[in-house]
Amino acid sequence: MTSTPAFVPGLAGIPAVESSISFIDGQVGILEYRGIPIEVLAEHSTFEETAYLLLYGSLPNEAELNRFRGRLSARRKLPDRLIETLRLLPGAGHPMLALQVGISILGMHSQRVNLKDRESMENAAIKIIGSLPSLVAAFERARKGLDFVQPKDGMDTAEAFLWMMSGEEPASVAVRALDAALILHAEHTMNASTFTARVVASSESDPYSVCAAAVGSLKGPLHGGANERVLDQLEAIGEAENVRPWVEERLSHKGKVMGFGHRVYKTKDPRSKVLQKLGNQVFEKLGGTPMYELALELEKVMEEKVGAKGICPNVDFFSGLLYQKLEIATDLFTPIFAIARCSGYMAHWMEQMPNNRIFRPTQVYQGAREARYVPMSERK
Ligand code: CMC
Repeated sequence: MTSTPAFVPGLAGIPAVESSISFIDGQVGILEYRGIPIEVLAEHSTFEETAYLLLYGSLPNEAELNRFRGRLSARRKLPDRLIETLRLLPGAGHPMLALQVGISILGMHSQRVNLKDRESMENAAIKIIGSLPSLVAAFERARKGLDFVQPKDGMDTAEAFLWMMSGEEPASVAVRALDAALILHAEHTMNASTFTARVVASSESDPYSVCAAAVGSLKGPLHGGANERVLDQLEAIGEAENVRPWVEERLSHKGKVMGFGHRVYKTKDPRSKVLQKLGNQVFEKLGGTPMYELALELEKVMEEKVGAKGICPNVDFFSGLLYQKLEIATDLFTPIFAIARCSGYMAHWMEQMPNNRIFRPTQVYQGAREARYVPMSERK
């Protein structure tokens, strides 16, 4: 007789992989990439250097970093036909859907990747990480009826993205804040979208399909999509005096407050602490936002009501306020998350493929057995 394995909803606590890319201690609030705390990376590193660290396992020397930056920068130029195709997409559609399409078209414009050849895999990973900011910016420009702004050589991801979005040289405070935000979003162990990436990779599919699928998972409001919902939520609350009754009403019917809670963190997400600090630096330079006061009040009331249950601000709580100050449209918050997280997806893909085994979990079957096929004439 076969024994029925215990069902664990959401696979909570079940290890799906062995990995040495990132580490979380959710009780203390620690996140490290390749052993380096994210606070240190956010302060001293760049997105390019962090992406290198994730992909290759160690920090680059100067020559390695410059070569990597050059390769990413070269990939930011999109094929004209790809830009033309993005122009055909419905402008009212969500940019995360456009990004999935864009990544798939990028794959159609690319050579077949040899999964047995590390160099072929690296080239594809760099192509995807380099192209993502351009895909997002190209869709944003297209839906506004504007021409694509060509990336400039020598610009790194954060600066290039802001430049391609607006066609104006971005302020250095904005570039630095976005660069640090990209570092903070680059990787996060076995979250839903990285797991999706791993599952798609496990069938030996191509990296474009891996990333497009992962982006689809990231879009959901329980995952990366929470960042845009946080802003909608603050707008709906409107005034500080509305916070308490709003929270009480929401919790009374077990409604979720966006930007709070995490499967792993039972304390304030370390990324949200850094993002809060970054936001404050940006508000000092570019002017404050009343929404921030509202967010602080929401954090205070949530701490009082559900803090003891370990429901605390997560990475998505402060990021939107920061992006709003950088004049980025709300529905582009999650695509920015994707621009960063694709470096994590690609690191997991490269880690997995040399010792790959297809994901094929089991299920606890609860349906009928050996049921009779009822002819149409007998059905009610
Ligand atoms: N607001 C109110 N209650 C909450 C929240 C929240 N944000 N999060 C969890 N809870 C409660 C939940 O109602 C449940 O209560 P009870 O034990 O009384 O039934 C308990 O906490 C456990 O919640 P869960 O949904 O079973 O926990 P989970 O580990 O399955 O889900 C989560 C984690 C992130 C999906 C969830 O906390 C959530 O939906 N948060 C809001 C959406 C959000 O901000 N998502 C971003 C996550 S961080 C970045 C990322 O992953 O991209």
